[in-house]
Amino acid sequence: MIARLANAAAAREHCRSWAREGRSIGFVPTMGALHAGHLSLVERAAAENDRVIVSIFVNPTQYDDPDDLANYPRPLERDLEAAASAGAQAAYLPDFDDVYPDGYRFRVTENAFSRELEGAHRAGHFDGVLTVVMKLFGVVRPDRAYFGEKDWQQLQLVRDMAAAFFLDVEVLPCPVVREADGLAMSSRNVRLSEEERRRAPEFHRLLASGRPEGDIRSALEAAGFGVDYVERRGGRVLGA
Ligand code: PAF
Repeated sequence: MIARLANAAAAREHCRSWAREGRSIGFVPTMGALHAGHLSLVERAAAENDRVIVSIFVNPTQYDDPDDLANYPRPLERDLEAAASAGAQAAYLPDFDDVYPDGYRFRVTENAFSRELEGAHRAGHFDGVLTVVMKLFGVVRPDRAYFGEKDWQQLQLVRDMAAAFFLDVEVLPCPVVREADGLAMSSRNVRLSEEERRRAPEFHRLLASGRPEGDIRSALEAAGFGVDYVERRGGRVLGA
């Protein structure tokens, strides 16, 4: 059984009552369509905390493409079952008005790294991510929050935001979970055609090949990928 918390007031009260009992709180923010990658975060949160809450909210402010937002999968009942089996006791399931009573008048903006890599190709994306994560942290007040390394830039920015605003939360990175053929698990993978799905693992294979970034980009383009960027950061080769 997982508690369904439909709004910020209910989620806040639920988490406060855990805190009053002296329970540590692990938090896994998601947009739903949970896969094994998300569930690995929930399992880790359950191993390291007394209580675990997930949030499921497809956050419109981080999308610059309305089709991408409209087509994001939303299998809520399946998600709740999966989150509960992985060890979550509660799920915060807000709607837009609950998260944005201010109509997105207030937002968190980072002016340097968020403009690079992913941010250079998705206008306003990280403003939306950082703002929603700040709001979710404000409601849940977790001791620990878990983020996948698949979204490496997001992880760095959330971690830096927590430090910049003296948030009392530990932001913890969790390794990428991959399909058997190397493709990183992602909620969006279900939207690949059969042919795209067959070719997708080549992307990871080339990024991990150890070749110079320029060569990787050329090889990806030759293999038919549209490449936003291939760049080396923090000892990793990142690409989209
Ligand atoms: O990584 C995600 O799923 C989202 O960017 C997040 C952190 C839940 C914020 O909407």
